[in-house]
Amino acid sequence: MENKRRIFLKQACAPVLMAALGIPVLEACSKEEGSEDSGTSPTKSGPVTINLSNAQFSDLGNVGGWVNYLAENLLLIRISTTEIRAFDNACPHQGNRDGWSFADNTFTCSYHNNSYENSCSGSLRCYSTSIANGILTVSR
Ligand code: FES
Repeated sequence: MENKRRIFLKQACAPVLMAALGIPVLEACSKEEGSEDSGTSPTKSGPVTINLSNAQFSDLGNVGGWVNYLAENLLLIRISTTEIRAFDNACPHQGNRDGWSFADNTFTCSYHNNSYENSCSGSLRCYSTSIANGILTVSR
């Protein structure tokens, strides 16, 4: 459904521009076409290793700490001293990756305020992980 809308807007925007219907229409086209740059990039594949001593991941040092690792499209959360859970950071609603907040064991996407539990049996795509010698490995 979303892809059909996106394709329609991409095809419709050129004629709309030529018809010079006004600035609000131009802004709508620009926003839609730029959506892939604003957090809806394709899912990545392949294992990821993360050095947990890197300052970028310091929030994972405490249970409940989390990081949205946009460079690898991963949403990471410390579950216990021995477990960090990893999810694809694509929102199940429309795929946005950059609007997450976390409270009460629940991730909330700011785009439309949908919430998802930090469980591997929930709606977020969950990957298996392991920790050894301060290195987190995410298998995907
Ligand atoms: S894209 Fe996340 S709630 Fe809509």
